[in-house]
Amino acid sequence: MDIKEKLKSLQERVVQQLSLSKTDDAVEDIRVHLLGKKGDLTKILKGLKDLAPDQRPLVGQLANEIRHNLEEQIEDKRARLAKALLDRQLAAEQIDVTLPGKTVTIGTKHVLQQIQDQIEDHFISQGFQVMYGTEVETDEFNFARMNLPKDHPARDMQDTFYLTPNILLRTQTSAMQARAMDRHDFATGPLKMVSPGKVYRRDNDDATHSHQFHQVEGLVVGKGITLADLKGTLQALTDELFGKGHAMRFRQSYFPFTEPSLEVDISWNIVDDQTPAEDIRWIEVLGAGMVHPNVLKMAHIDPEEYTGFAFGLGPDRFAMIKYGIDDIRNFYLDDLRFLKQFSQVGK
Ligand code: PHE
Repeated sequence: MDIKEKLKSLQERVVQQLSLSKTDDAVEDIRVHLLGKKGDLTKILKGLKDLAPDQRPLVGQLANEIRHNLEEQIEDKRARLAKALLDRQLAAEQIDVTLPGKTVTIGTKHVLQQIQDQIEDHFISQGFQVMYGTEVETDEFNFARMNLPKDHPARDMQDTFYLTPNILLRTQTSAMQARAMDRHDFATGPLKMVSPGKVYRRDNDDATHSHQFHQVEGLVVGKGITLADLKGTLQALTDELFGKGHAMRFRQSYFPFTEPSLEVDISWNIVDDQTPAEDIRWIEVLGAGMVHPNVLKMAHIDPEEYTGFAFGLGPDRFAMIKYGIDDIRNFYLDDLRFLKQFSQVGK
């Protein structure tokens, strides 16, 4: 084969190899085998010097043309491979703007917080102040100032988590009563306050008991406050929370810090004067009573001049009645399927 034929066949081979190569690396390989120091074309070009002098310019020119042509084809192939790669990437990363977007879940208030807010709002509208207090309390405010000295048998009613002999997790929001009375300036008018919050008792959890639950305390102390004021206050609250038509009844009870003491039931169902007694379904919702004279005295308030009422209601109970929930543990399990049912409430 003479040198011209070698050049031509080399060109054909390279063109064919290029057409078959699929990656930039493969093209680079072809380039090195062709134009590298030991490349095929380089070798042929080295052979030029052995040609007759009159042949050299012609063959030299041909070799150069072929080299340029192949270099161009290599560049061209590279450009096409790069473009194909880019096209593939673009296709893979294409965003379909017509697909429906992801819905962002927005958290909502826990159902118990919603009930507590509704109760707070109601009392604020009635001129009460809201005092939260702390969950860690002293024995003095949780018990002693509530007319429950140490060793009082009624302490057994509230099994207590003690942190030290004198510091505990409050068992009742009644612990805020004495603090509120100590702080209040009675020259400005009656004390009207509610104290919502968490309380703790060493109870075994079951459908209606939880070692941690909520209470909203209410306290009104002033001149001429009577049981009728308590009844009116509670009726206004239940009318607003449950709607009008739920009856209320007082039953005699015992709390060391109230005298007389009452338990208050409301009817699950809506009733009127004509409803036969046996058709009314009662449920207990709170404890209440007239503030015990000892409690007033310990706050340096004269029980001859001032009277008051207090109540402690369970918002967990209120929520159970309002939404027909039969197990208190549902509130504390963080099951979103349960909680989401209330996501529209109170908006
Ligand atoms: N603190 C009482 C309880 O937890 C409820 C209560 C509050 C009763 C205020 C009377 C007055 O059982």
